[in-house]
Amino acid sequence: MKVLALVGSIRENSIHRSLFETYKGISQDFFELEEGVIETIPMYKGNDNEPSVVELSKQIINADAILFFSPEYNYSVSGVLKNTIDCLSRLDPQPFEGKPAAIIGASPGSIGTARMQYHLRQIGVPLNIHFLNKPEVMISNAMTKFVSGKLTDAKSLSFLLLHAQIFREFTMTFREI
Ligand code: FNR
Repeated sequence: MKVLALVGSIRENSIHRSLFETYKGISQDFFELEEGVIETIPMYKGNDNEPSVVELSKQIINADAILFFSPEYNYSVSGVLKNTIDCLSRLDPQPFEGKPAAIIGASPGSIGTARMQYHLRQIGVPLNIHFLNKPEVMISNAMTKFVSGKLTDAKSLSFLLLHAQIFREFTMTFREI
């Protein structure tokens, strides 16, 4: 099973990039997790043949499922992630159509990207993305759970393992028999 990760932060020392690496290790018995690069996607200007967008679109189409690792910026998804989704949404075929997906987020605050996650679910409606409802991964108070940029909190790590197991089962239900 192939899962494509979109990491919604291109910041140096991003905790979401670190979370992606951690999750990749944890989930290796359940699926192959590769990253789709969003850093090279230009701002949407109406050119629907942009090579970096077309390439990412192919990776999404070839994946069984999508995992979003995204920070919450001003109560919503990051601009780079939203722009990437907007660019991809203009292609035909629209790559997210019918894909199973899940969201992983962490923040220094007490609600762990909840507001961003519900915005991302809303963005998924016109794109017909099927988001896993539960379990939701909202890692709060991240500064107490990451040491030197790596997630070390045992409870969160075992929760991610459970999430990977459930996400695999969820994705299986979308596979053609
Ligand atoms: C933030 N941050 C933030 N956190 C949060 O819980 N809710 C929010 O609305 C925001 N808004 C926000 C806006 C902007 C522009 C920045 C740069 C940051 C803090 C954010 O959660 C924190 O910086 C994370 O570490 C961002 O994730 P990465 O970049 O480390 O992966």
